[in-house]
Amino acid sequence: MAKQDESGQLHIRAIIYDLDGVLVSTDEYHFRAWKRLADEEGIPFDRTINERLRGVSRMESLSIILERSTRKYSREEQRQLAERKNGYYVDSLSDLGPEAILPGARETVDAVHLLGLKQAVASSSKNAPRILEQTGLSELFDSAVDGSMISHSKPDPEVFLKAAEALSTEPGGCVVVEDAVSGIQAAKAAGMLSFAVASAARADEERQDGDNPVGAWKRAPDLSDNALVKAVEPFVHIPQNR
Ligand code: G6P
Ligand code: MG
Repeated sequence: MAKQDESGQLHIRAIIYDLDGVLVSTDEYHFRAWKRLADEEGIPFDRTINERLRGVSRMESLSIILERSTRKYSREEQRQLAERKNGYYVDSLSDLGPEAILPGARETVDAVHLLGLKQAVASSSKNAPRILEQTGLSELFDSAVDGSMISHSKPDPEVFLKAAEALSTEPGGCVVVEDAVSGIQAAKAAGMLSFAVASAARADEERQDGDNPVGAWKRAPDLSDNALVKAVEPFVHIPQNR
């Protein structure tokens, strides 16, 4: 559960950001690389199916795509397919730079730093370190956990728990920022609050009263207009001149 004092007051101490689709527009590059692979293999794949791939590891993403395949692929063939997709994806990253940073992301990270909170990136992607470097975001964070450091991808809480540990912060004091429904579920499983953006925010709005609510703590279309800072500020109780 999120950290509260005796009066029920929340104490937010750290922000943990997903990368693809939250800080950087690389979620679209993932989609294009999978689409190219699926088209080459004659497997139906579209943006609706793609929603299920958000936050999920490379091999698990492939399994979701192969649900619609008419033929079976051996383990070795699956490994080769995943490698091919990663080749397409990595090629598309060659020109990636700071222009790929999503609206409001950079300003949010700067403002959160001024609030005195710790900040980490937690991504299921093994390509996360390279993306953080190329966009110049790397140095802004106290810690980063990526796909090569975890055994289970979202909705498993592992990546977020590792990030909280690296920040020496209890899960209940962390807010996770996510564009993936699997990421919101992972945050919940980690005992953290979640701030849904983009796709996860839309799903949260659509399903808030349904049988299967997403259940984000707060949501916004993206990080522009200081949306995250406005949401967390009332719950920050850290001396500003740390
Ligand atoms: C992130 C993305 C997923 C991607 C996964 C693995 O979680 O949201 O779409 O499949 O990372 O990425 P990788 O770069 O390791 O293939
Ligand atoms: Mg994402």
